[in-house]
Amino acid sequence: MNQPLKIAIAGLGTVGAGTVRLLQQNADLLARHGGRELLLAAVSARDKGRARGIDVSGARWYDDSVAMAADPGVDVVVELIGGSEGAARATVAAALANGKHVVSANKALLAHDGTALSRLAEERRVALLFEAAVAGGIPILKVLREGLAANRVNRVYGILNGTCNFILTTMRETGRDFADVLAEAQRLGYAEADPSFDIDGVDAAHKLALLASVAFANAVDFSGVYVEGIRHVSALDIAFAEELGYRIKLLGVARLTEHGLEQRVHPCMVPRSTPIAHVDGVFNAVVVEGDFVGRVVLEGRGAGAEPTASAVVADLLDIARGRWSSSFTVPAASLDERPASPMLRHVGAYYVRLMVVDRPGVIADVAAALRDEQVSMEQMIQRGRAPGEAVPVVLTTHETEEAAMRRALARIGALETVLEPPRMIRVDNL
Ligand SMILES: NC(=O)c1ccc[n+]([C@@H]2O[C@H](COP(=O)([O-])OP(=O)(O)OC[C@H]3O[C@@H](n4cnc5c(N)ncnc54)[C@H](OP(=O)(O)O)[C@@H]3O)[C@@H](O)[C@H]2O)c1
Repeated sequence: MNQPLKIAIAGLGTVGAGTVRLLQQNADLLARHGGRELLLAAVSARDKGRARGIDVSGARWYDDSVAMAADPGVDVVVELIGGSEGAARATVAAALANGKHVVSANKALLAHDGTALSRLAEERRVALLFEAAVAGGIPILKVLREGLAANRVNRVYGILNGTCNFILTTMRETGRDFADVLAEAQRLGYAEADPSFDIDGVDAAHKLALLASVAFANAVDFSGVYVEGIRHVSALDIAFAEELGYRIKLLGVARLTEHGLEQRVHPCMVPRSTPIAHVDGVFNAVVVEGDFVGRVVLEGRGAGAEPTASAVVADLLDIARGRWSSSFTVPAASLDERPASPMLRHVGAYYVRLMVVDRPGVIADVAAALRDEQVSMEQMIQRGRAPGEAVPVVLTTHETEEAAMRRALARIGALETVLEPPRMIRVDNL
């Protein structure tokens, strides 16, 4: 039998404890699949006395995870602390500098520093793997780097945040409004006390930046991601989406356009007939469109101790076997540096909801604003009649450039008969 792979885990919270449990519970299977024992040699967290429901008595304890990253009896450091700065960053940098492999679930760190860290890993000839950082238990990075590596990827997109998907699904199923469902998600532990990273789309944007880099062999460009969260999605819009044959999902979408790499995270109306429309609750899904393979869909749990540990330990197995791919598909020096395709150049269809005074001539004014910006309307719905009062009017457009759509919305929003800022949701015909 080969030498054991000696593992140090920094961070023993949700994912760290799950990883320890997996290493212990499936030890025999892991030794068989990895060709050698996966040995937990050292651990680090802030509070040694904290009850964690795991047994780490056989591993060396470190209060300082950076010191642990220099332990000569460690081959690989698993960073499960979190955050783009501080201890997580220092631990990963120290581990790589010391010539140790790194496995991390930290999308925030990698979205900001992934390219530089992968360069460092290559210099030291060690692995930097982060399957758990994108869509938790779904092994999408491995699928892109290996199984689909022969394809030119046309587009990759997905539901990358379980909290948002839970909220949107519950809103649809119950007709309740956003704030109410967010409070429930917090009670159930699906949303943090400060939910902004999730509901404002930042977490999904971190994941999309990594997904896009692996799919297109491009340097990670988090600042190039257009981000819009789900706070403004209302129960009314969800009901109208159903009526029009769509579902509203928070999607991350990446593709190459004539302007560069388009990366966008925002609520999308997706046709109810597509697989992704039926991915509900806390589940995640990723869809890859390759030029030879066509469409590949992966669905699964995007977070939680067990699914995330599954991805972490799969990376450890690659290291145990001595076979791992470049972090972003190709060596860091060969990564493309395409410009970010500006959102104003995005071409797509749009859903718009207005609250207007129910009075003759209003619709004609709206239609004129669209015409003046060369935006072509596909359909319009007006529900109910309440002369002189506010009624919702919904319209969808044919494909148009975002810049024209925004100009049209500015004109419409300025009309005296339009009572609230227009609500716009992009329609993705996937
Ligand atoms: N939770 C998920 O489902 C999930 C899914 C995918 C990816 N991730 C990513 O996985 C990472 C960990 O997430 P998590 O949910 O497991 O976080 P968590 O439950 O908050 O755990 C964080 C752990 O880091 C430890 N820690 C904090 N500061 C430290 C320091 N200076 N030195 C050493 N240890 C320190 C904490 O120690 P104490 O316990 O002593 O306080 C805790 O054990 C994050 O990057 C997250 O984005 C999480």
